[in-house]
Amino acid sequence: MDRIRITGGNALRGIIPISGAKNAALPLMIASLLTSDTLTLENVPHLADVEGLMRILGNHGVDIAVNGRRERQENDYSRTIHFTCRTIADTTAPYELVSKMRASFWVIGPLLAREGRARVSLPGGCAIGTRPVDLFLEALTALGADIEIDGGYVNATAPKGGLLGARYRFPKVSVGATHVMMMAATLANGTTVIENAAREPEVLDLANCLNAMGAKISGAGTKTITVEGVASLSGARHRVLPDRIETGTYAMAVAMTGGDVTLEGTDAALLETALDTLRQTGAEITATETGLRIVRTGDRILPVDVVTEPFPGFPTDLQAQFMALMTRSSGVSHITETIFENRFMHVQELARLGARISLSGQMARVEGVSRLKGAPVMATDLRASVSLVIAGLAAEGETVVNRVYHLDRGFERLEEKLTRCGALVERVSE
Ligand code: EPZ
Repeated sequence: MDRIRITGGNALRGIIPISGAKNAALPLMIASLLTSDTLTLENVPHLADVEGLMRILGNHGVDIAVNGRRERQENDYSRTIHFTCRTIADTTAPYELVSKMRASFWVIGPLLAREGRARVSLPGGCAIGTRPVDLFLEALTALGADIEIDGGYVNATAPKGGLLGARYRFPKVSVGATHVMMMAATLANGTTVIENAAREPEVLDLANCLNAMGAKISGAGTKTITVEGVASLSGARHRVLPDRIETGTYAMAVAMTGGDVTLEGTDAALLETALDTLRQTGAEITATETGLRIVRTGDRILPVDVVTEPFPGFPTDLQAQFMALMTRSSGVSHITETIFENRFMHVQELARLGARISLSGQMARVEGVSRLKGAPVMATDLRASVSLVIAGLAAEGETVVNRVYHLDRGFERLEEKLTRCGALVERVSE
């Protein structure tokens, strides 16, 4: 199993190209199930989760051509992929596939909208929390679907003439359930109004793509989304938006190691709350025409408190990375996680590097220390793993991060991007 070996202490200087967003690419790929035409996605990151979803979509009948086989890649980091689902080959998403990647549960929306039925395995819990699917089932029921749970599977059936537009208010904000309801409503009869919708940029990106396919969606990016159902969708070409979590992760790495890095191909507007928080720690951040520049000089990292919230609040997907930064602050910071109930697995591992963190319920109290010291560590999810990489970059000596497959799910060419900025990072295969 691969590991990442980091020798800490170097400041980061240079340019890091930001990839397309994993969490936009996944629902966009799933949207290809809604049409018999070709959906072409540009700027698709090369990640284990994307490859996994390609296999799952293949099972449902999606034909996939990477870079159209003849097209040249725009640059090393971006791929153009064509998805064509002439007919749905199978409306079942089996346990073996769904249990590996939670987002694959989202196929339930398009399958139900296009074929009138779907049999999708319940995804089960995962390392960061129980992550139930009740909101998905309520939303689809509101659209007229009949839902039955049997043997670990959700059997969903649409009414005879197809799903029916409806008004539904989510009792809690859910990114995935918003994606699914929006996709399902595109082909429903009549108008759907989704209230208390997730406002994440990835929801807006999906709506923009669906509209390019002929859907009639307005209000995405706000709390109320209106979807006027249409009879069918066509193909489209769409560019995946930049990964705001990758952007924030590298920004936090620079804030921790010091240095001067330009993050190319991203947009500061995608993560304003996180960048404002970083500025309060003492980093200088400026938006450039094609991305943003982050500079940190001096040795002092100021402590700042954060509370994770749905967009536009501080993202839960940057909580672990920010905690890594706070381990070296000049005081005490409090980090409160409100989205997932078990997203503190990095705490014990950061402690192995010398961090002083105490947990009380959903709040971590982080007392900054003057130095971290390298150690072997591991983590059980993607963002926790990368927080250990960030801490390792700032620690003295060698840190070995085990279970690199978590990083490969969400960070494209991590070690290459960091090495180009002067970090000593290498992948060790066994
Ligand atoms: C998306 O997950 C992201 N995943 C997550 O990123 C991200 O952490 C999360 O949104 C929050 O921003 C993708 O986009 C692929 P939710 P999702 O439904 O949609 C509860 C990463 O590291 N809930 O918004 O699954 C749920 O348990 C990942 O890239 C219900 O109670 O998140 C959680 O507490 C991890 N019932 C809260 O809502 C439901 O039916 C928000 O979850 C659905 C969700």
